[in-house]
Amino acid sequence: MSDITVDVKDLNVKFGDAHIIHDVSFRVKKGEIIGLFGISGAGKTTIIRVLTCQIKKKDWTGYVEVESLTPAKKKNHSEILSKIGYVPQLELLNLYYELSALVNIETFASNYAIPRKKAKKIGQELFSILDIPEDTWKNPVKKMSGGEKKRVSMAIGLIHNPGVLFLDEPTTGVDANKRYDILNYLKKLNRQLGTTMFIITHDLEAALVCDKTAILREGKLLEFDTPHNLISSLPSNGLLARLTIEDLNEDKVEIIRNFEYCEKVSRAGNDIVEVFLKDFEDNLIHLLDYLLKHDLNITAMSRDVANFRRYFQIRILEEEEREIRALQKKESLKGVEME
Ligand SMILES: Nc1ncnc2c1ncn2[C@@H]1O[C@H](COP(=O)(O)OP(=O)(O)OP(=O)(O)O)[C@@H](O)[C@H]1O
Ligand SMILES: [Mg+2]
Repeated sequence: MSDITVDVKDLNVKFGDAHIIHDVSFRVKKGEIIGLFGISGAGKTTIIRVLTCQIKKKDWTGYVEVESLTPAKKKNHSEILSKIGYVPQLELLNLYYELSALVNIETFASNYAIPRKKAKKIGQELFSILDIPEDTWKNPVKKMSGGEKKRVSMAIGLIHNPGVLFLDEPTTGVDANKRYDILNYLKKLNRQLGTTMFIITHDLEAALVCDKTAILREGKLLEFDTPHNLISSLPSNGLLARLTIEDLNEDKVEIIRNFEYCEKVSRAGNDIVEVFLKDFEDNLIHLLDYLLKHDLNITAMSRDVANFRRYFQIRILEEEEREIRALQKKESLKGVEME
């Protein structure tokens, strides 16, 4: 049997004249956690909606398989839905707010013909893994905090032990400390139940729990790889010098950019820059000499490896610059034609 759980080839989504998703292809193995990253409107939810049978076939083209079944055929929908779980964005959670967490579980379980007693047992197990305080299980869900509601929704997404769980922004609307807890619960669930997971998120820290990360921009998939491979594709495998420079301004950044072995400079704070170098170890000392010669006063310095957040920012910026260059080229060609 194939170990591919989700297979997407040349996916295009169009709503009328609006072309939303462009030629997206990727493959996901059983048990992997995939992070779907991209700024608002990139098309993350739309891709997940295709995979979860929520978009009509007339609106998309390409080849898509989820648990060996294609959502292209309506007759497959109920079988696909029985094999997947879907946890929507916080504001769209479809819980029964007047009912308790346990009764919610029993109610949703009845959709999968799971008997009440069994549903209660599974619910209690999931609530324990998800650290939902036991004294809240019997209270109306409306009395729970945002983070607790989100975790009840995750438990509901998991009651039928789905092969794939889709989570749309699991950490949005949850306070900073709880964000890490939720990500850790997901990792724990993934390890204990072997569930393949798709996590849609704006939270770049979530890459820490992902086996692979997908970066989307304007409906195009820019990257799909392990966070480690992506970071390693940066100059010198992502090694960087973090420099605090007195009175840093754009002119000073430009001076750094002009250093012979400088590959990239990104601003990481008001007076902080991160500098990527060609052959980092050999050229760091030359960079410091160069800065000294140009009267740039370094007040602090450290070396580090780029994290996923930095990679994401660099990659998106790169794409924006590439697009601007392409546009300028087009404009200048137009100018030549007009002459
Ligand atoms: N049914 C629809 N008809 C027309 N346009 C749509 C439809 N659904 C989504 N879009 C458009 O497709 C684009 C991608 O939307 P999508 O919801 O997939 O983005 P997203 O990456 O999930 O964004 P967010 O991070 O804000 O949730 C947006 O420009 C949105 O307006
Ligand atoms: Mg979305």
